[in-house]
Amino acid sequence: MQFRDLKKQYEVLRNRIDPAVTRVMTDSNYISGRQVSELEEALAEYVGVKHCITCANGTDALSLALEAWNIGPGDAVFVPDFTFFASGETVAFEGATPIFVDILEDTFNMNPESLKKAIATVKAEGKLTPKAVVTVDLFGQPADYDKILPIVKENNLLLLEDGAQGFGGDIRGKRACSFGDIATTSFFPAKPLGCYGDGGAIFTNNDEWAALIKSLRIHGKGEDKYDNVRIGMNSRLDTIQAAVLQVKFEAFKKYELADVNKVAKRYDELLGDFVKTPTVLTGFLSSWAQYSILLKDKAERDLVQARLKEEGIPSMIYYPKGMHSQKAFAELDCVKVDLSVTEGICDRVLALPLHPYMTESDQDKVVDVIKRTVKM
Ligand SMILES: Cc1ncc(COP(=O)(O)O)c(C=O)c1O
Repeated sequence: MQFRDLKKQYEVLRNRIDPAVTRVMTDSNYISGRQVSELEEALAEYVGVKHCITCANGTDALSLALEAWNIGPGDAVFVPDFTFFASGETVAFEGATPIFVDILEDTFNMNPESLKKAIATVKAEGKLTPKAVVTVDLFGQPADYDKILPIVKENNLLLLEDGAQGFGGDIRGKRACSFGDIATTSFFPAKPLGCYGDGGAIFTNNDEWAALIKSLRIHGKGEDKYDNVRIGMNSRLDTIQAAVLQVKFEAFKKYELADVNKVAKRYDELLGDFVKTPTVLTGFLSSWAQYSILLKDKAERDLVQARLKEEGIPSMIYYPKGMHSQKAFAELDCVKVDLSVTEGICDRVLALPLHPYMTESDQDKVVDVIKRTVKM
């Protein structure tokens, strides 16, 4: 059984992906081909924002956004403690200080009350200037923007939405990657919308930031590539990846997003009485980058994972430790609030196989092992 069955997806889409990729080769248009700009237009329209700027990966997308805002030394940027490393890494890479905020057990997303406390503490200390909040649409569900946006506004902060896992989700029809002043996503192969290598994108309604990011992603270009007006980076989505994404995006819109939601709902129904299943808030839609359950404690989680493995079923621990426990942040003064929800969850969380092509019989096998194990 595959954790996320990209082979199956390729089998289904191969008669469209192969000619799309071959076309790039026959046209020999590997960098900045027409597929890239076509994809950018289609993604911007889907998300409902003015600009989509593709780039080399979701990590660069975050860095480009922070660069555009000139975030650096002396700035505090609030980041959930429970996320992939890149959400906080990029803040520190720009020389700013990530301040970690606790999450909510039900949704795994940023706790608005914890955010409020962290902002107040940084302000009271007066050592750093609060500049931005990075929200993460973790495991596919948008963060609780109904509660977070007013806090961001009240404190005059910028909102960077890390939608690496959240593309396709929505809140009452307003799509993920449209909530931040700038939002980013990743097209890493296993993401809800993934390519066949690395890829990423940035979304914004702001013309000035969009122009700046377009320049920064190609060596700080001015009039053309050989007119360089600022220090930038080389971060482009290549044409082959754009061609793959064009095909996959059609499948994503047509049935994959709906089908992965059906699989997740079936897990909810079959597992709800045995383990803590993830909560999707009313009016929210998840694109299900992960289906993560919570077990009673570490011993039970490790036992379930071992039993699944014995039966040839893959599972993953996202994430084994909070950001504040990462050695890379040991020297930084990052902890201002209680992070105990994250700490507890890291020992209990387990992500199960999930993808739009998952069969009911595979799902039944997963459910059966879990039920037998937690009952014991
Ligand atoms: C929440 C989050 N942010 C950022 C990233 C970085 O994306 P990429 O791997 O494309 O650089 C990822 C991807 O793994 C992620 O899950």
